[in-house]
Amino acid sequence: MQAKKKWTPKKVKSYLENLLWKVAFPLLPWYFNERHFESLYRKKVDPWQYTQSSFEREKYHKTLCAIPEEVHSILEVGCSEGVFTELLLKRGKYVVGIDISQTALERAKVRLSPYSGQWELRKLNIVTDEIEGHFNLILASEILYYLGSHTVLRHLQEKFFRLLKEEGYLLLVHFYPSGQIIHDSFTEGEKFFKVWEEVTYHPERDYLITLLQKRETR
Ligand SMILES: C[S@@+](CC[C@H](N)C(=O)[O-])C[C@H]1O[C@@H](n2cnc3c(N)ncnc32)[C@H](O)[C@@H]1O
Repeated sequence: MQAKKKWTPKKVKSYLENLLWKVAFPLLPWYFNERHFESLYRKKVDPWQYTQSSFEREKYHKTLCAIPEEVHSILEVGCSEGVFTELLLKRGKYVVGIDISQTALERAKVRLSPYSGQWELRKLNIVTDEIEGHFNLILASEILYYLGSHTVLRHLQEKFFRLLKEEGYLLLVHFYPSGQIIHDSFTEGEKFFKVWEEVTYHPERDYLITLLQKRETR
C-alpha cells in the first residue's frame, strides 16, 4: 500500500514555488533580457554580492568540489563579473566566460587580468548566439531560470551537447526546489545522464547542484 502524502509547511512552500515557476517560465525572457541585466550592472557593482556573501562563498566551494579533476576547459555561461571564474583559474582551468552584459564583462576583464592566457570573455546571448569551441565542462549557475520555457531548455540541451567534448560534463547550480524542474529537463532526452546530485538545505536559500555527463555518440 502506498504511504499517504504528508503536507508539512515546507512541502507546501516547495509545491507552491514549483507551481509558480511552471506558470511563470514562458514569461521570464521578456523581463530578463539584455536591457534588464545591463541596467542592473550599471546601477550597481556586484549586484548579487558575490564577493561578500558567505552563502555564495559556500555555494562556490561546493560547486568547485563537484568539478571532476580531469576537467581542463570550461565554458561558463553567465560568468557575470568573473568572481567564480577567478576561482576556476586559480585551480588551473582554462575558461571561456560568456555573458549578455558588456558592463559585467568589462569588470570581469579587470578582475581576471592577472591570469592572462587562461581565459577568454565573449559578449553573447546563450540562447540566440552561436558559440565556438569544444569544452570538457559547461557550467550554468543561477542563470537558466531567466531563460524561459521547456522549449528553450530543450534547445540548450542540444546546444550544450554539441559544445561538449566526448564524455564532457554539464554542471548545473540553481535554487531548490525550482531548480529541480530545470535540472531534470536535461535528463529527459537521450543526451545526458546524471552522475551526481546534492541538495543543500541552507538557512538563506536551499540550492541544488547537479553534475550530468554527455552520453556517448554512436
Ligand atoms: C544571477 S547571475 C549568475 C552569475 C554566475 N553564474 C554565478 O552563479 O555566480 C546571472 C548572469 O547571467 C547573465 N545572463 C542572463 N541572461 C543571459 C543570456 N541569455 N546569455 C548570457 N548571459 C546571460 C547575466 O548578465 C548575469 O551576469
